[in-house]
Amino acid sequence: MARVLVTAHLPGDALERLAEAGHEVTYRDLAAAMPRDELLAAVPGISALVAMMVDRVDAELLDAAGPSLRVVADVVVGYDNIDVAACVERGVVVTNTPGVLTDATADIAMALVLMSTRGLGAAERRVRTGEPWRWSFTADLGTGLRGKTLGIVGPGAIGLATARRAAAFDMEILLSGRSTPDPAVVDGLGASVVDLGELLTASDVVSLHCPLTPATRHLVGETELRAMKPTAHLVNTARGPVVDEGALVEALEAGEIAGAGLDVFEDEPRVHPGLLGRDDVVLLPHLGSATIETRTAMADLAIANVLAVLGGADPVTPVGR
Ligand code: DGY
Repeated sequence: MARVLVTAHLPGDALERLAEAGHEVTYRDLAAAMPRDELLAAVPGISALVAMMVDRVDAELLDAAGPSLRVVADVVVGYDNIDVAACVERGVVVTNTPGVLTDATADIAMALVLMSTRGLGAAERRVRTGEPWRWSFTADLGTGLRGKTLGIVGPGAIGLATARRAAAFDMEILLSGRSTPDPAVVDGLGASVVDLGELLTASDVVSLHCPLTPATRHLVGETELRAMKPTAHLVNTARGPVVDEGALVEALEAGEIAGAGLDVFEDEPRVHPGLLGRDDVVLLPHLGSATIETRTAMADLAIANVLAVLGGADPVTPVGR
């Protein structure tokens, strides 16, 4: 019997499978992040950790867990909360949950494209405040999407799924990133692969989908924002630190870009105060993958990874190999 720590509430019946397999589960059935001191106190002697995006898994935690730890199953696609090298060094397998959250996250990216270009956040807030309003032919004029260009930075699964949605809105697609997408997929989208500089200057909306790595931290800063069209919008459903939030506030202030739709922030849950009062930004609380179907599938996949490793089989979706 192995000890498994699950750090937050999981939907569905994934946990039952752990119990059926005879494992001893410590389940913290709360949605909020586990405080660091509680996490460190709970890990000694565990064999598996089912971690959330907000749980930092680093050398300190791995050392506190000790040599019994065999697998960290991150219930997330972007596993920047894990020090993978420190895990590999200690023979701990790391897994994430790719694939199952592609559509939910791409839906939110497309929603932010629409919300930002049509000014829906500000309009909704105005109605909600009870402020008197009246229909006017020239009020609330947004920008249409047909024929406009969407630049996808990071053409992985979520980036390409967002591109497919945008193509259905008759947008032109530009792709830029470290990985080269399958040429058949690029052709199917009628897309062009370009470098980041060209993507920034040519796009009406830039949507970020790259993982957070040392190379992508502040990938979009002062210079990049200045390169964008003054009519362009920036959408981020990837990770907050990919954008220099201070530079974004300054670019919006200076009219260097027209708006932004953000599901992620540099220092979550804190939001740069310069963004909070602005009508040209849409701010969501990191809910890209938050559908009941998706979160259930993520939980199922994480538990499948734990069961595989504890059962001596290969993990289903390992990272860092
Ligand atoms: C992920 O899986 O990386 C998401 O950001 C979590 O919602």
